[in-house]
Amino acid sequence: MRILALSLLVRCILAVVPCLAPSLAAAKPPPPPFSSCVNLSNALEAPIEGHWGYTIRAEDIKRIAEAGFDAIRVPIRWSAHTEASPPHLIDPALFKRVDEVVAQGLSAGLKVIINVHHFEAFSSEPSRHAPQLAAMWEQISKHYTSAPDDVIFELINEPNDQATAQFMNRINQLLVTVIRETNPKRWIIFGGAQWGSLGGLLESLPPKARRVIASFHYYDPFSFTHQGATFVEPMQPAGKPWGTNAEHRSIANDMKRAAAYGETHGVPVLLGEFGVHITTKLEDRAHWLGHVRAGAEENGIGWCHWGWAAEFRMFDAENDVWIAPIRDALIRPNLEQN
Ligand code: GLC
Repeated sequence: MRILALSLLVRCILAVVPCLAPSLAAAKPPPPPFSSCVNLSNALEAPIEGHWGYTIRAEDIKRIAEAGFDAIRVPIRWSAHTEASPPHLIDPALFKRVDEVVAQGLSAGLKVIINVHHFEAFSSEPSRHAPQLAAMWEQISKHYTSAPDDVIFELINEPNDQATAQFMNRINQLLVTVIRETNPKRWIIFGGAQWGSLGGLLESLPPKARRVIASFHYYDPFSFTHQGATFVEPMQPAGKPWGTNAEHRSIANDMKRAAAYGETHGVPVLLGEFGVHITTKLEDRAHWLGHVRAGAEENGIGWCHWGWAAEFRMFDAENDVWIAPIRDALIRPNLEQN
């Protein structure tokens, strides 16, 4: 043991490998509290629900549960319904709507993740907006203090720009402290900087607390997953295929790196978003999704597909039909195993 510790220390000093001192003490991470989840994208993340083409429906939540998924992630733009100046009160109408969706998820037997999504001002000027973020979490935590454990909090979606890894370490710790005052045991999901990417997570430290989950988002290669997405500048040209041996290896390798983070820090790991834009050939979408899902599962990582009924969809909400190859790439292999 001494020799191992010494050789690690030397290697750290020589900076041949990153310093992994905490891993010596780390316990095997507990499994994530859910395994297969769907993001209810483009609904409550829009400034007003419905303005981005989808409003969450109770029957969709039931469908998700019946297909075999065990959780939904509900992206919510709280900042659009919160006073910009102190005390930063959240509009009760938004709470009422989120309560409805949470109740629908719980009664379908799903875990329900609620997050803070699209707080873009925070990433541009994190010090200035941190008090608002903390005030929002204080109110959300109080509101859900008596909710069942199946309601899970996620601190903030995809911090980027000025919200650096170092800054996020401090703010994540602060938010967890705020939440723990009213929710001593609830699972809390945190992510890193750089748009919540794997790179961002690997640079971050988990908040010091029990029952926290490390999350990362995975859209690599971006030129494949985001081809044709009009919100990306410059727009990535359509027609990009995926599936070389090197590309397969790259996914396997990335999932191992994510799992290693969990082992190092003794926390469960979640792939909180992964998906492919609908411009992409359906067969290629399903192929990539199946590989990423399998790679996550092989490494004990829970996952959450982006998304339900919008641009990265798995369900056609206009005609009320599943996009079967996408659903099957995600959930069928699990159902067949059981
Ligand atoms: C992030 C963004 C969301 C986008 C998705 C895929 O979650 O917040 O708006 O659609 O990633 O790019």
